[in-house]
Amino acid sequence: MRIDIITVLPELLQSPFEASILKRAIEKELVAIHFHNLRDYTSNKYKQVDDYQFGGGAGMVMMIEPIDKCISSLKAERAYDEIIYMTPDGETLTQTTANELSLKGNLIILCGHYKGVDQRVRDHFITREISVGDYVLSGGELAAAILCDAVIRLIPGVLSNETSALTDSFQDNLLAPPIYTRPAEYKGWKVPEILLSGNTPKIDVWREAESLKRTSEKRPDLLDK
Ligand code: ADE
Repeated sequence: MRIDIITVLPELLQSPFEASILKRAIEKELVAIHFHNLRDYTSNKYKQVDDYQFGGGAGMVMMIEPIDKCISSLKAERAYDEIIYMTPDGETLTQTTANELSLKGNLIILCGHYKGVDQRVRDHFITREISVGDYVLSGGELAAAILCDAVIRLIPGVLSNETSALTDSFQDNLLAPPIYTRPAEYKGWKVPEILLSGNTPKIDVWREAESLKRTSEKRPDLLDK
């Protein structure tokens, strides 16, 4: 997979890809991340990427020209499966979306700033709009990092057996069951006996029941899906 990230603040986005699972995925060449600074695609002296909104009102708008230049130069090199715009008014990111995107080849992610982008960018270039939740961030960069993390860890070969995504919360619309590690007793607080029994079929049944219990307590909405 290849992900091209278009941003005015590439420095805000670098560190998530320089550690742990994402770093290893890049090293193993299971994913390549390319940052494109929108200011490199401006034609004006001040490298200006935003301007006042027509009709008046507070907040600047990202201009179409540098975004067009950047996206068009990328599209001239290769075909893209999706051109994603990170925005609070997009579809809310779910595990289903992450699963789906993890099967794609080439993605572009555009990070919004200020009030957002000129609507014509959304109308003519963007194929998908994604939000990471009903709250507003100062820009799309942190949202893009969340999307990339959720997607990349699902690419086959990125996670080892021990870190397998199959037992994650949401993978089957259920939250994951409680987990424990050594010691088996701490300050009198005990690990459930069943987990120490070595009886794998029984442990599986217990985990399934705990998943259901946890989901109905914390996220009953998931059980309606
Ligand atoms: N940009 C600002 N807020 C955002 C959000 N919640 N999701 C995606 N992009 C954003």
